[in-house]
Amino acid sequence: MEIIILKNAEKVAAMGGELVAELLRVSPAAVLGLATGGTQLALYRILVAKCHAGEISFRNTCSFNLDEYLGVTPDNPQSYRAYMKRELFDQIDIDQDNAFLPECDEGQNPVLVGPAYEQKIREAGGIDLQLLGIGVNGHIGFNEPSSSLNSRTRVKTLTRQTFEDNSRLFSPDEFQPTLAITMGIATIMNARRILLLATGENKAAAVSKMVEGPLTAMCPASILQMHERVTVLLDEAAAGGLRNRDYYEWTHLQNESLKDRFGRSHES
Ligand code: GLP
Repeated sequence: MEIIILKNAEKVAAMGGELVAELLRVSPAAVLGLATGGTQLALYRILVAKCHAGEISFRNTCSFNLDEYLGVTPDNPQSYRAYMKRELFDQIDIDQDNAFLPECDEGQNPVLVGPAYEQKIREAGGIDLQLLGIGVNGHIGFNEPSSSLNSRTRVKTLTRQTFEDNSRLFSPDEFQPTLAITMGIATIMNARRILLLATGENKAAAVSKMVEGPLTAMCPASILQMHERVTVLLDEAAAGGLRNRDYYEWTHLQNESLKDRFGRSHES
């Protein structure tokens, strides 16, 4: 894993934005895997700014989001579709017919949504770059602890902790879903490149389990240790629990000088 520790959340978003932009410059028709959550907001603001400045375009891309609540319609402001429209899609030049979420239309059998979503990802040629955040309990997407490390897109029940973490976003009289449809862990692992962002002290324990803990379904993000090309961008606070920090910083320095010479990071 390539672990990059930056001074603050702003720098994490800036570097994340630059990595996405680099991909779009080389591959304007890249297939993007997108994530929701508070951590991604600053990154999306950077992508919007780059798009407005004419530095990048999403015109030829298509995107697949990690997850969507079940039982929340797309026009509900709490839906991840609404989040994506608000924070990104409505502000960039993406064709929104090519921006997919694992949504379950009214009357549709939620069990059938997963396999259809997998099929759509396959037809698009697979995901080139998957953005990820991490839950306090180590979840990625909505793959909660104990999720099969070989899982595919399907319905998942949120843990009490995730439900409570996200309750700050819902008013007391509002319906808060306990179910979601999420890409599976194997689906995420199929992405050709993964970019995970984590900021803030409350993520430090999950980050250290993901990077330095044993590979276990009890910390779904730990599966990323098995991926060939993961970049983890952390701020100081989220990196606070890492024992091997000196090595990651040393490696990053070496990597930067190699990149100057050969144009690409060698670390994985
Ligand atoms: C949600 C999403 C995850 C996200 C996580 C962290 O549960 N399903 O994809 O990574 O929250 O969110 P935040 O960035 O707000 O901490």
